[in-house]
Amino acid sequence: MLQKINHIGIAVQSLETTLPFYRDSLGLPFHGIEEVTEQKVKVAMLGIGESKIELLEPTSSDSPIAKFLEKNGPGIHHIAYEVDDIEAAISRMLQQGARMIDEVPRNGAHGTRIAFVHPKSSNGVLTEL
Ligand code: CO
Repeated sequence: MLQKINHIGIAVQSLETTLPFYRDSLGLPFHGIEEVTEQKVKVAMLGIGESKIELLEPTSSDSPIAKFLEKNGPGIHHIAYEVDDIEAAISRMLQQGARMIDEVPRNGAHGTRIAFVHPKSSNGVLTEL
């Protein structure tokens, strides 16, 4: 069911001030910035092997990322596992007794469909499928 880690999501206050570290200092290939209005974030994607680093900047004070930053400061926000069938992956999680934030997939960056597992069911690590 799980193929690989698709990306690691990192909450940042500002893409502008954070990007130079990932793009220039670490030298990761920069895949551009996209706004995901549904989640009130601007997303910068950088490549690392078959995976990506997803930098998340809130576009509004009621964005989930704004709330995360208020509580925890900048840092790792979630891990996203790639699955070949999102509906099947959600059903499986529910059958296994996991709580899902999304029981129906929603739109993620780059035309993907995503679903978050509730942190209570994933030991405090926000998990995206
Ligand atoms: Co993500």
